[in-house]
Amino acid sequence: MSAYQVEGATRAGGRVESIWDTFARRPGATTRGDTGEVACRAYEDPGAMLDAVAWLGLDTFRLSVSWPRFVGPDGAVNEEAVAYYRRVLAGLRELGVRPLVTLYHWDLPQWLEDRGGWTSLGTADAFVAFATRAAERLGDLVDDWVTINEPFCAAFHGYLSGLHAPGRTDEAAALRAAFVQMHAHAGALRALREAAPGGRVGFAINLSDLAPASDRPEDLAAHARADLVENRLFLEPLLLGRVPDDAEAYFGAGPLVAALDGIDVAELARPTDFVGVNHYEHNVVRAHEVGTDPVVRGVAKLPVPEPRSGHGVAVHPAAFERVLLRVAEHAPDRPIWVTENGVGLWDYVGPDGACRDVERVAYLTGYVGAMASAIARGARVEAYYFWSLMDSFEWAQGYQLRYGLFYTDYASGRLAPKLSAAHYRDVITAARAAETAAVGG
Ligand code: FCB
Repeated sequence: MSAYQVEGATRAGGRVESIWDTFARRPGATTRGDTGEVACRAYEDPGAMLDAVAWLGLDTFRLSVSWPRFVGPDGAVNEEAVAYYRRVLAGLRELGVRPLVTLYHWDLPQWLEDRGGWTSLGTADAFVAFATRAAERLGDLVDDWVTINEPFCAAFHGYLSGLHAPGRTDEAAALRAAFVQMHAHAGALRALREAAPGGRVGFAINLSDLAPASDRPEDLAAHARADLVENRLFLEPLLLGRVPDDAEAYFGAGPLVAALDGIDVAELARPTDFVGVNHYEHNVVRAHEVGTDPVVRGVAKLPVPEPRSGHGVAVHPAAFERVLLRVAEHAPDRPIWVTENGVGLWDYVGPDGACRDVERVAYLTGYVGAMASAIARGARVEAYYFWSLMDSFEWAQGYQLRYGLFYTDYASGRLAPKLSAAHYRDVITAARAAETAAVGG
């Protein structure tokens, strides 16, 4: 789960504004004008969330610490926030659940955006300071850390397509934001090693599986462009310490030089304890004169065949296996943690009060099977976190699209297990019995 998606109480407890507060208020930015102001009420009462974790029998649970809740513009730690996160983390430990804590899950403090946001190295410095404070104050309760979640989305949807906060539309800014986030990751990794020794640290990148629509040279080139922007721009710096060869031709020498200003690319690949992989997408890419993709120039993505998610994303387990094997090829010795994988559906509760999300059950069967097959082919996948425990504020999609194993009744904050929750509980029990992989949620 992530803080802005579940906590609500955005104006309470000394929290300052984040870019998602201001962005969600813009007319048209989110479906139906939804915001995270109330969300799942996890700040008011994390009890329902902890009960759901216990119900599933998870070994480990991923959550994020809200940066604008934790430290203010003056760098002072907010004691109310410390008390809240300590209570949640202690609650997890009492259940025998290892917390995996993400430090940046898109809720940049607005005051930092006002100073340039992720296009400014100052934001990376502030992030390292926040990581240090979080490690000092929470480190005794945290085993594992994710520095940055999905820098692709935060950079290219935040600063180019404008679909995410802060809603900017400037390609050079997006490229800079990509590298500044990776630089912030490298700084936070160093800081966590020092302030929370013994903790395991990684990043979480979202990787999509892409195929060219044909072997015509223009489609192959379109595929390469999409793969550059969506995958290699992050995979290569973070795992190999280099900028992809074709980045200069695509983005231009000027923007690339500006994006790298003050950043040591070799440093970005400083070894982490795991590679966090978020996986959702499979697309077939073709060249398109005008271009219909919000991020990659001159490409169109073909409509995907059924089965699809509620919002048209391919349900294609073989894609997941390919992504895991690709990461394993780049970093053969590093454990892979699947930090997110899941499916958005228009779930509903039937007249008998049950939510029968049979599509999510089928999704889980397919994707867990694909992961097992990647493991059998040599990928060192050591953890799996299903996205997500419960329905929550789904960014630009607001509350319409649901990803949870638990159905969230937003009016009351109550959580109820869907059919998929019962299925996942069985999967966990079986996996534990077989002692094959660590399974989380
Ligand atoms: C990922 C985000 C996560 C959630 C899922 C569905 O891109 O990291 O917060 O929105 O998608």
